[in-house]
Amino acid sequence: MKTTLRLDKLLAHSGFGTRSIIKLLVKRGAVEVNGKKIKDSGLRVNPELDDIRVDGETVRYREFVYLMLNKPQGVVSATEDRRDRTVLDLLAEEYAHFELFPVGRLDKDTEGLLLLTNDGKLAHNLLSPRKHVPKTYYAHVEGAVEEADIHAFRRGVALDDGYETMPAELRILQTGDPALDRLSEIELTIMEGKFHQVKRMFQAVGKRVVFLKRLSMGPLTLDSELRTGTYRELTVEETAALHAHADSAS
Ligand code: URA
Repeated sequence: MKTTLRLDKLLAHSGFGTRSIIKLLVKRGAVEVNGKKIKDSGLRVNPELDDIRVDGETVRYREFVYLMLNKPQGVVSATEDRRDRTVLDLLAEEYAHFELFPVGRLDKDTEGLLLLTNDGKLAHNLLSPRKHVPKTYYAHVEGAVEEADIHAFRRGVALDDGYETMPAELRILQTGDPALDRLSEIELTIMEGKFHQVKRMFQAVGKRVVFLKRLSMGPLTLDSELRTGTYRELTVEETAALHAHADSAS
């Protein structure tokens, strides 16, 4: 936990509005720190030690936010983009001050579980190639995905740039049949996160992914109640499980 931070930042994170609104609150004497009315919204405070009140109400501060988003197709996993809408554009105003970012990337046309946070350490650990955080995807694939692909993915396949993938677990839910215009349906768990990895793994065995959705990342599973394009904060249990996973070496 940070020791001190600016009062206006703390109040913005606690839902009191933009810095200019907070300046007005301070100006009208609504903000007290340790019983004293504050004049300077840039004052540095310690949220663990200082008693901070707005209009007499104690401010409950939280530093980190963790959101589970069911990413829709058509938005990019970035904090800003010149052309496309980003995942941050899907969030309500109340989250604007947290400086959230997506933990890893899903392609523009990929749906599903995306974690958004401002906890840089957690994100770093989850994304570290050394941690091998498992990620499970559901996909529709053109052509007949078959037993041989299960073995190939378990051994590792060579991607188009020559990279040999780590062992991955493929589950066939439905075998496609081009004659019947039927796609294969699969689940694939990978322990790494190379660029377009799932699509390129299928490309390596001569097949094409036409729909991709992430179902889980480490201990976090996409909430089936979350419609695409919607999000919710993680529960205390989910956050704890994620930290435990990220902290454990593997
Ligand atoms: N693999 C892909 O090919 N695309 C994604 O978005 C995620 C994993």
